[in-house]
Amino acid sequence: MRIGTLSIEPPLILAPMAGITDSPFRRMLRRLGGVGLLTMEFVSSEAVTRGIEAELAKLPFDPEERPLAIQVYGSDPDRMAAAARLAERAGADAVDINMGCPSRPIVRNGAGAALMGDLDRARAVIRAVRDAVTVPLTVKFRLGLREDDPAFLELGAIAEEEGADAVTLHPRTARQQYSGSADWARIAELVRALSIPVVGNGDVRSPEDACRMFGETGCAAVMIGRAVLKDPWIFAKTASFLETGRWEEPSLEQRAAFVLDHFRLLAEELEGRALLHKLKVFTGKYTHGLPGGRELRGRLDGIRDPGELMAAVESFFARLLTGRR
Ligand SMILES: Cc1cc2nc3c(=O)[nH]c(=O)nc-3n(C[C@H](O)[C@H](O)[C@H](O)COP(=O)(O)O)c2cc1C
Repeated sequence: MRIGTLSIEPPLILAPMAGITDSPFRRMLRRLGGVGLLTMEFVSSEAVTRGIEAELAKLPFDPEERPLAIQVYGSDPDRMAAAARLAERAGADAVDINMGCPSRPIVRNGAGAALMGDLDRARAVIRAVRDAVTVPLTVKFRLGLREDDPAFLELGAIAEEEGADAVTLHPRTARQQYSGSADWARIAELVRALSIPVVGNGDVRSPEDACRMFGETGCAAVMIGRAVLKDPWIFAKTASFLETGRWEEPSLEQRAAFVLDHFRLLAEELEGRALLHKLKVFTGKYTHGLPGGRELRGRLDGIRDPGELMAAVESFFARLLTGRR
């Protein structure tokens, strides 16, 4: 699959997830394979163009992460254009515009999903960003703000007219947040309506789901978000399934090694409370469905030191592995 000049092989894309798809996580996923395009957590155009350090710190990435898309959000066309230029200068292989985020503080500022309710501004933002960068441009959105105002077909047409190279649809409304289920039939509708590639997104939890999304919607690529947190192998397994019709579950040893390597990488980049917070977030996800996982998650609140948490996770996996023998 191609997004403009960029080849996405396999046609599987990591969804941008704030607080999750940082550089260590992206590098870990690259090592497992199967991802055609990684996406950075979103970058605020306001913060990054005002030189806010914490936001600028998101931009540098490791060459092994490529191809990588950088997603920017905001409502001011000039600032969005300036932020997109910074993303391109940072080496992004593609720039993505966020027009789907339903989070209240973002929508209140006219950004994210709010742009689905102000299509003139959405057009101005896409046009300004298109004029600002030469790398491929994509736009990610939802069905609309509410079910009675499904702007996705109109917004998709605007994106195409303004020179976007592809669009991604997560077929829920902003009001739905993550409730209900993603309505894949709407992805098929958008595919039929546009000439540029449409990336399908929403509720893909297994290699079989991904195949079904391709088959039912005709989308050019599948984007996966939340499922990768419980199963970082979902991309590798799906790529194998698409190619050979089969996939293998990783061993418990492989899972344990992945988690501990990821945590070591995080410890190299972060410290103190920031590290502790990230370790807790990922421990919560990675131990789902594992024997004793619930008990470990119950103890997380009381842990105040990253070293203590790393030791607890290490002995959790050591116990699981000895229990198997
Ligand atoms: C923790 C979290 C953070 C997210 N952050 C972003 C974001 O920064 N930009 C964005 O476009 N979507 C964001 N999303 C939405 C995902 O990219 C994706 O559209 C959504 O989760 C549906 O896909 P899934 O069912 O595969 O998870 C986020 C989702 C989650 C769960």
